[in-house]
Amino acid sequence: MDSLEISIHYTKCSYDELNEEIRKLTDAAKRATGGSYSPYSGFKVGAAVLLADNTIVTGCNQENIAYPSGLCAERTALFSAGATHPDTPVTAIAIAAFHNGEFTAEPVTPCGACRQVLAETQSRYGRQISVLLYGTEYCIFIKDGISALLPFSFSF
Ligand code: THU
Repeated sequence: MDSLEISIHYTKCSYDELNEEIRKLTDAAKRATGGSYSPYSGFKVGAAVLLADNTIVTGCNQENIAYPSGLCAERTALFSAGATHPDTPVTAIAIAAFHNGEFTAEPVTPCGACRQVLAETQSRYGRQISVLLYGTEYCIFIKDGISALLPFSFSF
């Protein structure tokens, strides 16, 4: 019997410490919260996906009175990128959330379903996706790809 361990590496940093490319992506995610349709939760999430040709595609959460019919910001952005730029790899995603009149102090982390879609996006293009999670107090940057967010993601 083997007892194994998985550890992940991430960076905790301030917005000001981000490099210009990721700061620009974060700004796009923050702006994208403005398009959120979230009358049920009042929680506005924005996501910005960076493509290998430097295109940025954004998305935000879209809720529905039949709750499960809504979609998270991350998948809205990823599916939009897949639909409009199917041949261009995704290289990074930034996520921000706005609640009670301000951006959240702590970073918001993607739900399990969005992590699964991120995992497949990574394997689809054979490129690691870096992740920036924005908070006004601190940010989390994961440069080693989605396995840090979702070890043992489903595939067959
Ligand atoms: N939400 C996202 O858009 N992304 C996440 O990573 C977590 C949650 C949305 C879903 C719902 O519209 C609202 O936030 C509250 O759960």
